[in-house]
Amino acid sequence: MSRSFHVAPGGSLSGILRVPGDKSISHRAVMLGAIADGVTEITGFLEGADAISTMQIVRALGVCVDGPRAGRVTVHGVGLHGLRAPGTSLDCGNAGTAMRLLMGLLAGQRFESTLVGDESLSKRPMRRVAEPLAAMGARIETRDGCPPVRILPVAALHGLRYPMPMASAQVKSALLLAGLYARGVTTVIEPAPTRDHTERMLGGFGVVVQRDGAAVSVRGGQPLRATAIDVPADISSAAFFLVGASIAPGSDLIVEHVGMNPTRTGVIDILRLMGADIEVCNEREVGGEPVADLRVRAAPLHGAAVPPQLVAPAIDEFPALFVAAACARGRTVITGAAELRVKESDRIAVMAEGLRVLGVEATPTPDGMVIEGRGERASAFVRGAVQAHGDHRIAMSFAIAALRAEGELVVHDAANVATSFPGFEALARSAGLRIEGRPQA
Ligand code: S3P
Repeated sequence: MSRSFHVAPGGSLSGILRVPGDKSISHRAVMLGAIADGVTEITGFLEGADAISTMQIVRALGVCVDGPRAGRVTVHGVGLHGLRAPGTSLDCGNAGTAMRLLMGLLAGQRFESTLVGDESLSKRPMRRVAEPLAAMGARIETRDGCPPVRILPVAALHGLRYPMPMASAQVKSALLLAGLYARGVTTVIEPAPTRDHTERMLGGFGVVVQRDGAAVSVRGGQPLRATAIDVPADISSAAFFLVGASIAPGSDLIVEHVGMNPTRTGVIDILRLMGADIEVCNEREVGGEPVADLRVRAAPLHGAAVPPQLVAPAIDEFPALFVAAACARGRTVITGAAELRVKESDRIAVMAEGLRVLGVEATPTPDGMVIEGRGERASAFVRGAVQAHGDHRIAMSFAIAALRAEGELVVHDAANVATSFPGFEALARSAGLRIEGRPQA
């Protein structure tokens, strides 16, 4: 059943909170644990629908997985060549990361498999992965470039040197995973730096991954050694609170144990560029990933031209950043972000539509948006009802907008928040957001 958020206007955010585990790292921990030799213990695992889909899929591939129990998952690895033919199609749900990375993992297997997804995922482009995998010798069928994805058995893959046409960590990761099953070396060249969790985690499992400028390479046939993985809190989930506390006068909030991988911290850089007051405290390293506590206090924001090099490291945070821009004084211009059009929804079109319903002058462009901030007013948004189009990050972004609305905001089609942020409503309420979720008729 779908769900609507009803959010009363105003309030501020305060206290100390921890958001759920990182989605990107949770997916990878289960996948790499599955093909490792030995037992991998994961803590801080994201118990959201997306990462659970990956867990169920590796179970269907013959891997014994215990949990999740309070964020603990134990993966009994079967080794690089130990996966088994699944008896059914493999359901990735809403998770693009699951589908694309698994395409890479399954491309080099000696059995057939089929990956399927929900309505949103069934419309997302898979050729970006299928084509380079085919160039490595994989046999992959899609429906006009979209799921379902059928992967046919192959005897072996061969290495590839691939200049990636788009900045995508999912494509890069799929090719590196396939590269483990390839003869020779697989090299991916990135047009801009993208999240490097796969490379870091492979290193943690004892695989040699080489980085040479924009090129990252792996030699096939390397075994993985099981390890322990402590998943930090997801900066992409923290982002709603960073924006919320920045725009709501009187806010003073600490978000603990946030993953601070430099390929992911664009949201902090962009918010600071807009005048946000974010303090990075207690920096440390946990299991190969940098982590910190973030203290954020309300501050008057101003519009900015977002530098193109900050787009990839903030790619999932633009829905929240658009809300910040609407609350800023002056104009914000985002360019070079065409990838937003092929996320869980077309995030440029859907956010522009919702912002306009809420009285904001937001002009979508092919690769971004121009937003005229309403920062000089106490209320940046008029009351209204917006559609999240089943996109978790859109739903949470409009929910926090209520902190600066003049009347109630209703966000429809918000149930998918559970894909990345189980417990969002309760946690946001505890911090001061006046949110109530109701079943949607
Ligand atoms: C992800 C990479 C990004 C991001 C997604 C998670 C990952 O997608 O938007 O939410 O875990 O590798 P792209 O690789 O398509 O940019």
